Amino acid sequence: MESPVLQDELRREQEKLRDNATIYDILKLEHKDVKRLFKQIIDEERYQDNIYNQIRTALQIHMAGEEKLLYPRLENNEETRLLTLESYEEHEVSKKVMNDIDDTNDNEAKLAKIKVLSETIDMHVEEEEGELFKKAKRVLSDEDEREIARQFMSEKMNKLP
Ligand SMILES: [Fe+2]
Ligand SMILES: [Fe+2]
Repeated sequence: MESPVLQDELRREQEKLRDNATIYDILKLEHKDVKRLFKQIIDEERYQDNIYNQIRTALQIHMAGEEKLLYPRLENNEETRLLTLESYEEHEVSKKVMNDIDDTNDNEAKLAKIKVLSETIDMHVEEEEGELFKKAKRVLSDEDEREIARQFMSEKMNKLP
């Protein structure tokens, strides 16, 4: 499948990575990209298959990476445990809404569910960037933050369509 947006995004991420990015840098960049994709559908108030598929792929890879590489490092520390457990739950809610979108054939219903997904992700991103990452910085070392970034990017390279 052609996905120029993901390829562009990946290229920009790799450029950042060469500058020694932390996992937070990469995740924030992905948050911004997915927000831009949601905006395209919501501004036009029309369901668009190609854009939604990009959102779904991006979110699946992003959430899987966080769940595999970042959250396990934070869930056993008292300072970050509750926020991390909350984050897992928010991922589950998002995955359920994505399954509902796939199970619906009505484009207007898909659009309504995409708006709900967008709001759910917005709230989740706000919590990650506003609270979880701030606390994570006190739990993880600088070297951890860069090593997790490298692992995240190599996982992503293997999963991209
Ligand atoms: Fe995230
Ligand atoms: Fe997340």
